[in-house]
Amino acid sequence: MSTLISVRDLAKDYVMGDTTVHALRGVSLDIAKGEFVAVMGPSGSGKSTFMNLLGCLDHPSRGVYRLDDEEVSRLDGDRLANVRNRKLGFVFQHFNLLPRTSALDNVALPLLYAGTSTAERHQRAAERLRQVGLAERMDHHPSQLSGGQQQRVAIARALVNDPALVLADEPTGALDSITSIEIMALLQQLNREGITVVLVTHEHDIAAHAGRIISFRDGAVIEDRVNTPLQAIIGGIAA
Ligand SMILES: Nc1ncnc2c1ncn2[C@@H]1O[C@H](COP(=O)(O)OP(=O)(O)OP(=O)(O)O)[C@@H](O)[C@H]1O
Ligand SMILES: [Mg+2]
Repeated sequence: MSTLISVRDLAKDYVMGDTTVHALRGVSLDIAKGEFVAVMGPSGSGKSTFMNLLGCLDHPSRGVYRLDDEEVSRLDGDRLANVRNRKLGFVFQHFNLLPRTSALDNVALPLLYAGTSTAERHQRAAERLRQVGLAERMDHHPSQLSGGQQQRVAIARALVNDPALVLADEPTGALDSITSIEIMALLQQLNREGITVVLVTHEHDIAAHAGRIISFRDGAVIEDRVNTPLQAIIGGIAA
């Protein structure tokens, strides 16, 4: 499989007055296209810092990051934003949907920044909502959806620009355990369809659905292992 993510000696320091936090202390790893990776580790171990770098939301202090054969570690803010729009999809713990805005318009939003026509935006957003099982909920606002449905809208939004990589920081952190398994089943289904997924979780039960588990401690990788993914067997994804 070809390499999607390649990081070498990636480091991030946060300078706070006269103290410096070494949030990431030199991480080197590759992630191939089509992998499903779970990132674990205690609070403060650098997981979100690592995800923010992978997501081109921040610059590393040192080291190299190549995404899809493009070195992105030294790009300026505008170019990083361009990489994000073209190659990345984000899923957050608290969904981050616009209230008083339909599921369809929430999903279509990233395409607005890409300058896509209204008709094409709506067509592509509808296709992604069908893919996550929400064909019947396109006109609903977030407050008219369950937590799991809101997260599916957020996943459809993450997919609408056909990203090479979906990054999810605790996507099940605000969901009950059955809904979490449904969301993991959906991510597994999307992964089987070819999408590369990197997610952060605190829960071993959630990480068990990934094909690889990378564990952080004190800003470094302490374990990186292949996992036989637990299949989330949930009927009726298209609820
Ligand atoms: N913007 C920031 N400025 C200063 N220090 C920061 C900043 N962001 C994170 N840190 C520090 O960097 C370290 C790593 O934080 P990070 O958010 O990556 O941890 P995490 O593994 O995601 O933790 P959690 O599981 O609690 O989300 C912590 O010590 C944190 O206090
Ligand atoms: Mg975090």
